[in-house]
Amino acid sequence: MLKRCGRRLLLALAGALLACLLVLTADPPPPAVPAERGRRALRSLAGPSGAATAPGLEAAAAAPGAPVREVHSLSEYFSLLTRSRRDAGPPPGGAPRPADGRPRPPVEPLAPRDVFIAVKTTRKFHRARLDLLLETWISRHEEMTFIFTDGEDEALARRAGHVVNTNCSAAHSRQALSCKMAVEYDRFIESGRKWFCHVDDDNYVNVRALLRLLGSYPHTQDVYLGKPSLDRPIQATERVSENTVRPVHFWFATGGAGFCISRGLALKMSPWASGGHFVSTAERIRLPDDCTVGYIVEALLGVPLLRCGLFHSHLENLQQVPASELHEQVTLSYGMFENKRNAVHIKGPFSVEADPSRFRSIHCHLYPDTPWCPRTAIF
Ligand SMILES: *[C@@H]1O[C@H](CO)[C@@H](O)[C@H](O)[C@H]1NC(C)=O
Repeated sequence: MLKRCGRRLLLALAGALLACLLVLTADPPPPAVPAERGRRALRSLAGPSGAATAPGLEAAAAAPGAPVREVHSLSEYFSLLTRSRRDAGPPPGGAPRPADGRPRPPVEPLAPRDVFIAVKTTRKFHRARLDLLLETWISRHEEMTFIFTDGEDEALARRAGHVVNTNCSAAHSRQALSCKMAVEYDRFIESGRKWFCHVDDDNYVNVRALLRLLGSYPHTQDVYLGKPSLDRPIQATERVSENTVRPVHFWFATGGAGFCISRGLALKMSPWASGGHFVSTAERIRLPDDCTVGYIVEALLGVPLLRCGLFHSHLENLQQVPASELHEQVTLSYGMFENKRNAVHIKGPFSVEADPSRFRSIHCHLYPDTPWCPRTAIF
């Protein structure tokens, strides 16, 4: 049984990887873009350098004019990837300490109903990924959580409070992802809530830490919080008219780690994000949904990304998240990293075989009064 679950998880992960590769190969964007997408994956896979350079919270500084390496073919991209893996040593100064950010005083106490957490998923991951989230963090925060998917599922509708069938394609294409983000944005605006957060179906959200973080910013101001997966701004080409493009560069928070946007900022994004405009904006730069958010916020509105080391995606080494600081982390994840299983390192109460994502163990650590958590757990 456990073996089967493990195998299912591995299959799901392999599937996700394949889907990424398909996006990369099946949809060739204009010349400058594959280079950027390659670099994005490259940097993400190469190590948690983004996290290492920016622990805690600080405004992302404009990068110095570092030379841009263009990648012209997929094979060149893979050889770069291998080289970069080889070159990637341990980060200088030891493991990044994500919770080192200056503690910020609270400015606005938040109730759970003030925050809209959009969880992006797809029909085929309802059992493999979403059930785990429903059992763990979502079970405690039903009223904040909105699940955005692409297929009807009665079992899911019975178990979860807010499920939105976006009617978007189930393909892992740029267009399908932007289509979902567009629906998330519109639903958030309709909700009247103070904060929008987007996470993926492989993220654990530590809601108490999230509320603490968001409560330290006024929701009426322009706030875009998250963690970049690159160590420099992404370079893209922006289509400005039928046959004119121009280069544009901006930081973006990687969707796989989750990010948050204040209502004040979300309202300003409306001309490029509301009522389906998000999809046409994404087409203008031909980049995925999370990059498009960065494009609207940084490049079009001139609002800088606030980097936060408390968000974590499966594209960084999750073993480096210290177990003693789990209470402070805002999002966690699991997946594959450099061909090895990547998950937060936490001892018990469940074995790695029984709880490969470690989400059940993390949940019992954060909410020891959960009925299914062993009473005698020692952390
Ligand atoms: C998806 O389609 C169904 C059935 O036509 C509809 O009720 C629902 O509102 C649609 N969802 C969105 C987000 O448009």
